[in-house]
Amino acid sequence: MALTPAAGAGCNTSSTTPPGLHSGATVNSEIEWDTFDPQWYVRHNYSVLRADDRELLRRTRDFFADATLTGAHCVDVGSGANLYPVLPLLPFAHSLDLCEWSAPNVSWLRTQVDGFDELWDPYWRVCAELPAYAAVTDPRRRLAQVGRVLRLSVFDLPRHTWDAGTMFFVACSISADRAEYECAIGRFLDALRPRSPFAMAFMLGSQGYGVGQRWFPAVELRRSEVVASIAAGAYDVDIHEVPAEPPLRDGHLGMLLVTGRARG
Ligand SMILES: C[S@@+](CC[C@H](N)C(=O)[O-])C[C@H]1O[C@@H](n2cnc3c(N)ncnc32)[C@H](O)[C@@H]1O
Repeated sequence: MALTPAAGAGCNTSSTTPPGLHSGATVNSEIEWDTFDPQWYVRHNYSVLRADDRELLRRTRDFFADATLTGAHCVDVGSGANLYPVLPLLPFAHSLDLCEWSAPNVSWLRTQVDGFDELWDPYWRVCAELPAYAAVTDPRRRLAQVGRVLRLSVFDLPRHTWDAGTMFFVACSISADRAEYECAIGRFLDALRPRSPFAMAFMLGSQGYGVGQRWFPAVELRRSEVVASIAAGAYDVDIHEVPAEPPLRDGHLGMLLVTGRARG
């Protein structure tokens, strides 16, 4: 697949450097992403399937099951150390690209694509409550067949390349700069072909998050700001807010799931 960087998707640069609208807030290129510890992140966030993640997963599963997709070229952006956003794409994927910038996360993803850990089985069981998913009898093998891990920045995504996509907790959580948050959403939507279904998840009210000894910044968002950011690039948009389950994950107010179709 030719990887031609996106252009004109809410920001004008086509490189891993940030959009250049420096607000004084920490930008993506200033952060040491190679210090991200995927093992710690998975243990802390996903070793137990939380009620809020279960709800996001169920809704994402239902959305893609109704999207009439087959043999699709799918993408998950900023996959990090989380496999559950790719599971709802599995039955419909001819190929599934997991794009990530941090080197340790890329390595972690490659081991998981080769054969994912049992930790993800409860997540798959949620998917398999629907017949389209239950028909995939060996999801590990399917992911190994269709999955491909790319070290690729959200700011360098090629235009109009994929038929379906997910991006969970990325636009809000890769810097403290609002221009970059907007840019990441624009790049993601523009990387999809027109009318492609997508699901995006956001943390609301987060100022950042710890991964082991490291602290990573976030853009502190309200629901109305997310809705406004997506309006130009998408249609048939559905928004669902999931209140934070105690104990709170790093002090955020809740999560927002946005599904819809890319305008292209
Ligand atoms: C909060 S984590 C979310 C990870 C995962 N999607 C999840 O649902 O838990 C943010 C992820 O974005 C990745 N990231 C940071 N900068 C990026 C960039 N420019 N392009 C793509 N991914 C990036 C980080 O390495 C990290 O894996």
